[in-house]
Amino acid sequence: MKRRVTKAIFPVAGLGTRFLPATKSVPKEIMTLVDRPLIQYAIDEARAAGIEDFIFVTSRGKSALEDYFDHSPELDNALKKAGKTELHKVLRSTNMDSGAIAYIRQHKALGLGHAVSCARKLVGDEPFAVILPDDVIAAEKPCLQQMIEAYQETGGAMVAAMEVAPEKTSAYGVLDVLKKDGRVLSVKGMVEKPAPGTSPSNYAVIGRYILTPRVMQNLENIEHGAGGELQLTDAIAYELTTGRDIFGYEFEGKRFDCGSKDGFLQATVSFALDRPELRGELASFLKGLDLSDTSAG
Ligand code: G1P
Repeated sequence: MKRRVTKAIFPVAGLGTRFLPATKSVPKEIMTLVDRPLIQYAIDEARAAGIEDFIFVTSRGKSALEDYFDHSPELDNALKKAGKTELHKVLRSTNMDSGAIAYIRQHKALGLGHAVSCARKLVGDEPFAVILPDDVIAAEKPCLQQMIEAYQETGGAMVAAMEVAPEKTSAYGVLDVLKKDGRVLSVKGMVEKPAPGTSPSNYAVIGRYILTPRVMQNLENIEHGAGGELQLTDAIAYELTTGRDIFGYEFEGKRFDCGSKDGFLQATVSFALDRPELRGELASFLKGLDLSDTSAG
């Protein structure tokens, strides 16, 4: 049995410029799919996987995130008084225990690896998860839970993996795969955002990671990589140079890239269609749309 994974890092310092002007005042993680903020999906997934300590790496302008996770006694009382039990339950389900969340500031946007390294003291000497809230994964069994179960067998460092179209690989960390055993990929290399035509495979890294504290040390030993940033991918790949194992886990589920407008819209429609109270009207609205003139996109 490997050590339990009870800590997760949520890098949420990004500016969210792809969603300007909304993100001028709303952190992108608070943008909602139907009625739940993106970050709530990430938290729910982490909780389902047994995470108990939530570490947010934030930046200036993200205080709405802290407020979101605070308890709201006025709202709580108002809903209780009005007998709105269902809404009251929804509200309570978002409450976090005192002390469960820690906020750390990343003062400069130096990359995902740097963001993760900001949490090194809180992680200490334990394995930890990293969840990128932009990657929303709809799955029967939450993705991180699938990975933690697999990790109990494999140990090492593990990243979520998904096959993408060859022309899309340059937008991702990509795995060099040695062999595949069911959903588990043995990895012999990892490249962050390979130039078109140079990708070692079509297996992209998706934003779920289970990492050992050594990866934190690696972040101190590596140079800045793709885009001049300190890359988490490079710090994980560094494990291979010391003879340690890295695994990809081809999760079951549908991933939406909610860092892009396309992905965000698709997730919104898809999650709304999954809700019995919204499905009927939305489906007939969608069916009634005239889609004959969509060739320009
Ligand atoms: C980050 C990681 C990349 C990974 C991707 C998944 O990239 O650096 O390795 O494939 O998330 O969403 P970003 O999307 O922040 O450019």
